[in-house]
Amino acid sequence: MRIVVVPDTAAMGKRAADLVEKEMGKHVNPVIGLATGSTPLPLYKELIRRNREGGLDFSTTITFNLDEYVGLPTDHSESYRRFMNENLFDHINIVPGNTHVPNGMADDVEAECENYERMIADCGGIDLQVLGIGGNGHIGFNEPGSSLGSLTRIKTLTEKTRQDNARFFDSIDDVPRYAITMGIGTIIAARKCILLASGEGKADAIKDACEGPLTAMCPASVLQLHRYATLIVTEDAAGKLTLPVED
Ligand code: GLP
Repeated sequence: MRIVVVPDTAAMGKRAADLVEKEMGKHVNPVIGLATGSTPLPLYKELIRRNREGGLDFSTTITFNLDEYVGLPTDHSESYRRFMNENLFDHINIVPGNTHVPNGMADDVEAECENYERMIADCGGIDLQVLGIGGNGHIGFNEPGSSLGSLTRIKTLTEKTRQDNARFFDSIDDVPRYAITMGIGTIIAARKCILLASGEGKADAIKDACEGPLTAMCPASVLQLHRYATLIVTEDAAGKLTLPVED
């Protein structure tokens, strides 16, 4: 696990964009896994800038998002499909049909999950997966206790996650109780992973993920097993690490 500490979120976005751009350059049809949340926004801002000003071409890129709330229509202000359209896809030259977000409105959720796995496999697997981290160490919506070998499925959100995400909704009662998420097994099957974290609120989760035991109680700790996992964390999020890191 490579841990890179950066001074601020802008630097985090640039370092992450460097890795995404480098990976995209290696493939005819790069397959990039994407995440939602406030953390990857500086990365998306930088990718948009490079697309507009630097010629970074997304026309053959395929994306798969980690997760989606169950029961929110795609045009709901907090659906992850809408988030991705508004914060990235609508601003770059990606083909809309090449962007995938699980369908949280599917009648048959189980079939949707199986189909999502199949589509990833049909594209040859994910070349690089971008991740955020929940305050409780979750990745995607794989809450503590999730099977480390799990594939895409429906998960019940913990109270902590619903409270953390309540800031985006009118009240906590409006926060969905379920989500479809790539499994931990799906995530670590990606050939490379980059996890971004910023803010003091993530310091405990980052310490547990990097220096704690490998445990389902901190799903992000599974990255300790991954051959090509890079963490890009701001100084405040890295504040509780005790081992030496890069900058
Ligand atoms: C949600 C998403 C995660 C994300 C996490 C952290 O729960 N499912 O993929 O990493 O929030 O969000 P933020 O980056 O806003 O702290």
